Amino acid sequence: NKVVLAYSGGLDTSIILKWLQTTYNCEVVTFTADLGQGEELEPARQKALLLGIKPENIHIEDLREEFVRDYVFPMFRANAAYEGVYLLGTSIARPLIGKKLIEIADRVGADAISHGATGKGNDQVRFELTAYALKPDVQVIAPWREWDLRSREQLIAFAEQHQIPIAKDKRGEAPFSVDANLLHASSEGKVLEDPAQEVPDYVYSRTISPEEAPDKPTIISIDFAKGDAVAIDGVQLSPAKLLAKLNELGRDNGIGRLDLVENRFVGMKSRGMYETPGGTILAVAHRAIESITLDRGAAHLKDQLMPQYAELIYNGFWFSPEREMLQALIDKSQEFVAGQVRLKLYKGGVHVIGRSSPYSLYDQDLVTFEEGAVAYDHRDAAGFIKLNALRLRTLGQRKRKLGL
Ligand code: ARG
Ligand code: SIN
Repeated sequence: NKVVLAYSGGLDTSIILKWLQTTYNCEVVTFTADLGQGEELEPARQKALLLGIKPENIHIEDLREEFVRDYVFPMFRANAAYEGVYLLGTSIARPLIGKKLIEIADRVGADAISHGATGKGNDQVRFELTAYALKPDVQVIAPWREWDLRSREQLIAFAEQHQIPIAKDKRGEAPFSVDANLLHASSEGKVLEDPAQEVPDYVYSRTISPEEAPDKPTIISIDFAKGDAVAIDGVQLSPAKLLAKLNELGRDNGIGRLDLVENRFVGMKSRGMYETPGGTILAVAHRAIESITLDRGAAHLKDQLMPQYAELIYNGFWFSPEREMLQALIDKSQEFVAGQVRLKLYKGGVHVIGRSSPYSLYDQDLVTFEEGAVAYDHRDAAGFIKLNALRLRTLGQRKRKLGL
C-alpha cells in the first residue's frame, strides 16, 4: 500500500509522514513542489531521506511556470476576486498540487493521497475535491482530522519519539500560519485571530509598508496578448518570470497588502492578511487593457459572472464543468485584449496613466465634444432618451395621480 503525501519538508508534514508510516503501515511517497514559496527544495529531499523515504519515492517538481501559465493567468483573465477583494492566491494553487498528487499516485500505483490541511479550513476541501474529480476511487487521508495529537506538546513529543529533527524556533507554537507561492503570501490564525487588532509589522514578508516606500513614483509598462501579460517595459518574460518581476516592483512600492475577514466555505468567518504585490498590479493593468478592448456587453457580462467564478475557485471547484464553462466564455472574451498599459506605482497605489491597443474600441472621433462625428448624430439621442423614458413617465403619472 502506497500513499502520496504533499510534503513541504517542514515539521508538521514530517510528523504526518511518520504518522502515516506508523498508523497505516504504508509506503509513503512524498511530493514537494516549488510554487514560488521562496524555499529551497533540496532540504525537503534530505529530510525525506532521513525519515526513511526511498530515493525513488521522493518527487520534487518546479511548478512555477505551470502554476502561473495554467492557473494564475486564466484566473486573472476573469478579474477574479473573492468577496470583492481577495485575489485567491492560496485557492488557485490547491488544484495544481492536488492534480500532481494524483498524477504521481497513478504513476507509482498508489491508491491514497494525504495532505496537511487542518479539518477547519478551505484547503482540505480544495485538495480533496480535486483528488476525487481526477481519481474517483482515491482514498484520502487527512491526519489533522484523524489523529489524537491535540496540542503542540503532543506533536513535539511524537516528533521526538520518532527522531524527527526539530528546528529550535519550531518547538513553540508558531505565532501565525503562513501559506505562500508566487502569487501571494497569506497569514492567518493566532496573533491575527482578533479582527479588531491591527496586523503586527512582523507578519509582513513580501512588501515594505507604503509609508516606507520611495517618495518617487515608479513608472512601468505592461504588454498584454489575449488577456495575458507578456512583457514588462518592453521586455518579454515567461509567465512565472513576469509575475516574479511584478512582485519585486510591488514589494518595493508597498503594494498589495490586504487585511480581510472572509467567509470560509466550511461556514465560519476567518481573518487573514494577504500580500499579493505582483497580482495587485496585474489586476489593475488587466482591467485597464480591457477598458479599451472589450465591448460593453462583453465586459459587463463577464463582470456579472466573475463573483460566481471566484467563488468556484475559492470553494475548490476548479475541476468542475461549471468552472470550465465559465473559463471558455472568459477566454473567448480575451481574443482582442492586447496592447499596452502604463502604470504609476507609488506608496501602495497602482495608478493607470495610459493605455493603447491595436484593437482599441475607443473612438476619439465618436466621443469628442468637437464637431465632426458622423456615426453619432445628436438628434438620435433625443428619440433614444424619449423611448427609454416612456416607462418612467407612465410610472411618474400614476405616482402624481395618487399624490405619492
Ligand atoms: N483563507 C485563505 C484561503 O482560504 C488562505 C488559507 C491558507 N492560509 C494560511 N495562512 N494557512 O484561500
Ligand atoms: C488550513 O486550515 O489548513 C488553512 C486554512 C484554510 O484552509 O482555510
